Order: sequence, then C-alpha cells, then structure tokens
Amino acid sequence: MSGLIPESFIESLLERIDIIDVVGARVPLKPAGHEFKACCPFHDEKTPSFYVSPQKQFYHCFGCGAHGTAVGFVMQYDGLEFPAAIEELAGQVGMDVPRTGGEASGARKREQEPLFDALEAAQNFFRAQLRKDPAAQRYLAERGLDERTLDEFGVGRAPDAWSALVDRLIEKGHKAVDLEKAGLAGRARNGNWIDKFRNRIMFPIRDRRGRVIAFGGRALGDDGPKYLNSAETPVFHKGRELYRLFEVRRGGLPERLLVVEGYMDAAALYQFGFEDAVATLGTAVTSDHLELMFRATSVVVFCFDGDSAGRRAAWKGLEAALPAMKSNREVRFLFLPDGEDPDSLVRSEGRDAFAARLDSAVPLSSFLFDELARPLDLTTLDGRARLVAQAEPLLGRLPAGPFADLMADELERRAGHAGDWRPQPAAQGPKRQASDRSLTPVQYAVAILVQHPELAADLDRDRLDGPGALKGVDFLVQLIDFCASRPNVSTALVLEHWRDRPEGRYLAELAARDLAGRAEQLGPALVESLDRIRIQRIRVRVAELQRRQAAEGLTPEQADELRHWLKHRTAGPSGN
Ligand code: UTP
Ligand code: MN
Repeated sequence: MSGLIPESFIESLLERIDIIDVVGARVPLKPAGHEFKACCPFHDEKTPSFYVSPQKQFYHCFGCGAHGTAVGFVMQYDGLEFPAAIEELAGQVGMDVPRTGGEASGARKREQEPLFDALEAAQNFFRAQLRKDPAAQRYLAERGLDERTLDEFGVGRAPDAWSALVDRLIEKGHKAVDLEKAGLAGRARNGNWIDKFRNRIMFPIRDRRGRVIAFGGRALGDDGPKYLNSAETPVFHKGRELYRLFEVRRGGLPERLLVVEGYMDAAALYQFGFEDAVATLGTAVTSDHLELMFRATSVVVFCFDGDSAGRRAAWKGLEAALPAMKSNREVRFLFLPDGEDPDSLVRSEGRDAFAARLDSAVPLSSFLFDELARPLDLTTLDGRARLVAQAEPLLGRLPAGPFADLMADELERRAGHAGDWRPQPAAQGPKRQASDRSLTPVQYAVAILVQHPELAADLDRDRLDGPGALKGVDFLVQLIDFCASRPNVSTALVLEHWRDRPEGRYLAELAARDLAGRAEQLGPALVESLDRIRIQRIRVRVAELQRRQAAEGLTPEQADELRHWLKHRTAGPSGN
C-alpha cells in the first residue's frame, strides 16, 4: 500500500519544479518564442511539433496529441506510475513525499531513516579516519589519486581494528541493530558487535538523491576479498543502483556516460578529466541500469576488458541494451587491451589516447553483427542463413523505430535477407486530439481558465448565473473557485487536481488547444463567455417554459417568468 500523496504537497512540488528543466533533462529543447520546442519523444518525426510552455507548465505535441504536466511527462517518458513520478520529481528538488493513510510507506520510512543516518555518520567517520592516517594517504597517492579526486569521491578509511566504527556510532546514539541492517556491522562468534569493513579504503555509494546507501571497501592488507561491497539492505539494491550516477548528474546532464567496472577506474578517469564515468560494481548490467543511464544521457559507452570474460560481459550488456534502443539513443563498446583496465590504461597512455579510444568505440550494431558472424562463413548460403536465424530473436527485442529499421537493412546487407522479425510496438501513445470542432461557451470559458487560471481571481462569477440548467456549468463554477482560491495557481496545478477525475482528460485537451487571440484579450473574452453562458441559460429556460405552455399551459407565476425572460433574453447580469 502506497498511501495517498496529499494535494498540498503536489501543489508545493509544482511550484518548485520547472517543466523546462524536467523535459529539458530528457529531450533537447530549443527556444521558440515564449515556448520551447523539440522533436516529439513520443512519436518519430523530423521537424519539431512538440512544444513546452513555461507559462502553462504544460507540454503539447501537435503531431501526436501527447500533452500534460511535468508529472505527466515523467510518467509517460520514464514509464512511471503517478506516485513514482512524484517521487522522482520530489527527489530532484530535495523534497520528501509525505503520505496519508499509507501505513506501509510510513513504516518503511521509519525503518529507513535510522539506516540513512547511520550510513551518513559512518561516511563522516571514514573521512575523518583518512585524514589522520598517513599510511592510507600514501597508498592513495601511490595509486595516483589527488586531493580533488579524493574529495569528489568522498574516499575514506576504515581503521585496522575490530569495532572502531561500531563503538563510535553506538557512543553517538545509533542502535547496533540499525548498523547491522545498514550493512555496517555484524556479530562475532562471541556475540560482540564488529565492523563489517576493517582496514580498507572506503568508497561511499550514493543514491539518486545523494544519500549514502552503501560502501565499497578496498583491502589494504591481505584480509578477505580485494573489494568488499555492502550486502543488499533495505536501502541498497544493487541491480538498481549505479555507482556515481548521482555525482555525474549533479552538474547537469552529461552528453555521454562511460560505464566501467570499478571504483578505481571511475576515480582514475575522473582525475584525467573524464568526469562522466559510472560503475556497475562488479554486477552484470541490467535493463534497469540502461533505463537509468538513458534518463541522464543519450550516449552510453561501455568499457570492457578485451579478454573472453570481458566480451561475455559486453554481450550481456548488449542484450540488456536492446529493449532500450529508441532512436536518438546510442550504445558503444570499448574493448581494452589484455590485462588493462581503464585505470591502468589512462595512466599509461594519457588523456588524449584514451579519448581517441572512446571515439573509436564499436557501435552496438557492429558489435552485434560481428560477434554473431565471427564463427560463421558468410560466403556460404548456410552461413548467411544462420546469421539471419541468430539475429532474429535479438532484433525482435528492439523497439519499433528508425534504429530497428536500420538494423533490418544492415542484416539484409550482410546476409542478403532482413529476417522474419517484428520490432516491439512502441508504448501505447496518447490518443489523437478530437477534431477541432468549435467550442461551446462553457468549454471556451474552461479552456481559457485552464490555460490562464490566474484570471479567475478577478472574475465575477455571478455573471454566469441564470435560470436554466446547462451542461458543464457546475464544473465551471468549481473550476473558478479552485483557481480563485489559490494564489500560485498554474495550468499544471489545475490538471493535477483533476488528474484522476472524469474531467481530467477534458481539461487536458482544452489545455492543449491553441486559443485564438493574444493573452491580454483572453481576460475580456472570458468575461464575455460568462455572459454568453448566462444568455444560454435564459434561452434554455425560455424554451422549457414555451414547451410547457404548448403542452399543458402555464401557471400565472410561470407565465410571468416567461414574460420576464423574454424581455431580458439578451440582458447581462441582474442590475444591468
Ligand atoms: P578488479 O579486480 O578489476 O579491481 O575489480 P580494480 O578496480 O582494478 O581494483 P584495483 O585497481 O586492483 O584496486 C573491478 C570491480 O569489481 C568489483 C569491484 O567493484 C571492483 O571495483 N570487485 C572486484 C568486487 O566487488 N570484489 C572483488 O573482490 C573484486
Ligand atoms: Mn585496477
């Protein structure tokens, strides 16, 4: 159970985020008048028809009709449910999502909070320990890491002792069970609490909000494995985290991400000016990893060992990448010479040589076809047939789009046959906008209000009072009251308020409409539409009374009323 997110929270979230940042982080935007435009990420197109309005905090594609708020964009683009999209956006502006009525989530938060506290305290402790340990500093200097890199990576030192961290943290009021749950402590056979990381160089691992969630520790002595990583804990899930993704994204989204295996690789690359390296921490690359990376960049370069283990790992990376290969995304593979890792290579060859290697990294398409063709003889019909047969199931995992089409062409070029496979259909896009029939006065008033909700503040809503019932008037009144009562109202806020109600879709459609007339004309147009609504209501009532008159006759009061409305049929609000 997730619990409900209070509307007041969504309201303050929408005030803090800017849809231009949210969309701009995922799609390159170009200024276009008062708005920004791009090629639509939800359908394939060559000329931009996707517009984002900073004023409305709303996006709209004139090509496929996709539209919505920053929340809707993250849901559609990142494939998230509403609560997850809110979490994602809140994380970006450092807000914690409160929940009401969600026992489980509250409990989870209460369980996680002490773990985050303990991990942060441990990080401070390890940093302080490094500052007073010349031997560890010497080791890091010998490995070629300078002060700037050590600070950036938050490198620390776990002392060569059984329980230095546990003792300190318990002294500071942390609970031993929390240290255990956070992966920092365990119990010795004699029942004493002992440190999990001893005599190691410590690398903190942060989540997407920058909180320390785990550590990797490199052995300084001969004890235990060379690298020890935190086990899975309630706050650390390996398959979903990428080492340094938070840090790399912090300074703005990178053009490219390098994916390496180890902490030392990322640190050495950083020191040589390649600040965009993330690491998978010894686990296989997953599709989740790829989606995370492509939310930050459009080019991913994997660095793998050139040996057979490295090529196997690279193939796994390729398989994980296939479903993510939408157009405008690129994956390349850099194979390193035998016995080298990025750390050793960049140190021995220098920055420029490594940059040149990156530039000549193998595109996913070549790697896929070359690797499949390697054991085959393509001069024979049988060899070519086998290439087609082996490529089909892989290509069938590509999403539909230009990349899949080009891969089909390439298979045709290499094997003489494009194979019998279909790419995965693109995620269900939004419906096309209904035909551009002209709007009724109620619809027109709603459209102006949803696009310029600040106009409600000066509106005299008595103007639309009238005797007859008219479809949509009750909703219009609610909308006016909602907008008038919120000083920071925006299109996005209105849409989020009605998101899961029947009116939500109708509102979003009206928000996307291009209203004729300049912004300054819309205030008077809104007032005029209220007057037209009033007149319509009078006409409805007149028609009703006339029908009754013809059918069964009118009471004297009804006859008076009819005369009154016939006289004031086109009149403005009472008193006019
Ligand atoms: P490597 O063995 O290639 O280490 O493991 P490295 O990064 O080159 O380290 P140095 O240069 O000897 O210090 C690569 C990565 O695999 C994981 C770690 O994430 C490491 O950075 N690994 C390796 C482990 O988790 N445990 C191990 O025992 C070894
Ligand atoms: Mn190494």
